[in-house]
Amino acid sequence: MRNKLLIGTGVAFTLLFSPISQAFAEEPTVGERKQVDNVAHRGATAYAPENTVAAFDLAVDMKADYIEIDVQRSKDGELVLIHDTTVDRTTDGTGKVGDLTLEQLRSLDAGSWKGEQYVGEPIPTFDEILDRYRGKVGILIELKAPELYPGIEKQVAEALKERNLDKPQNEKIIIQSFNFESMKKTNELLPQVPIGVLTSSRAHTTPEALQEFSTYADWFNPSYGIVTEELVNQVHSLGMKIGSWTVRSQEAADFLFKMKVDAIITDYPDYVDPRN
Ligand code: G3P
Ligand code: CA
Repeated sequence: MRNKLLIGTGVAFTLLFSPISQAFAEEPTVGERKQVDNVAHRGATAYAPENTVAAFDLAVDMKADYIEIDVQRSKDGELVLIHDTTVDRTTDGTGKVGDLTLEQLRSLDAGSWKGEQYVGEPIPTFDEILDRYRGKVGILIELKAPELYPGIEKQVAEALKERNLDKPQNEKIIIQSFNFESMKKTNELLPQVPIGVLTSSRAHTTPEALQEFSTYADWFNPSYGIVTEELVNQVHSLGMKIGSWTVRSQEAADFLFKMKVDAIITDYPDYVDPRN
């Protein structure tokens, strides 16, 4: 009996200092997880076709705090959700988004490339998505390649204003882009809506660059490869928040928790909150 007790104590002691227990010790607590926004990148993209209602509904089911959407414009001026500037990769069609009418875009199958169960899933419109998800989940709106669509900032602003989504209590709307001029313009059109700047370039992490972003942006959103604790502190000291992308592994999610970012943009909402 005494031997068993000694062995048990020994095993417990060994485990306490083993790499396994160290790994568990570093896992974020429930409280730490709750402080970080779980942003479903193009929806729950790991499991359903990106930028479709199927992926956004799944993200809501998985208790994401935000869905991230990519907004572009059809030939006849309608705002639609798609990531690439051509339809080739994610639909059964070909051609540039801006060369196709809404009717042509809506006739495409944006689901079957991801699996048979998604056959016929259409490219959503921006209006449809605002109406469907407002108040249910936050919406992180990316203006994708806005330089291709002159005036898209105003169009997005109008769509938000029509729905009263341009106010501080705006049901969690953020607008972001890699195009900084477009974000400056958007900030002027929608002064009360939080703005984010996207980058994967270290050149944009200098104190000067960050200071300039902070004059119009509320979020600095870098790819996780350039995130450091120092960068997070700098961003915070300028009064901005930091959201990072694109998480496709548990290790990457855990790294960003450790860096104390404010939002994790992920294809796998379950890596950010495994309880869901
Ligand atoms: O939200 C961040 C992320 O969406 C930026 O990259 O290419 O997936 O639009 P991308
Ligand atoms: Ca995006």
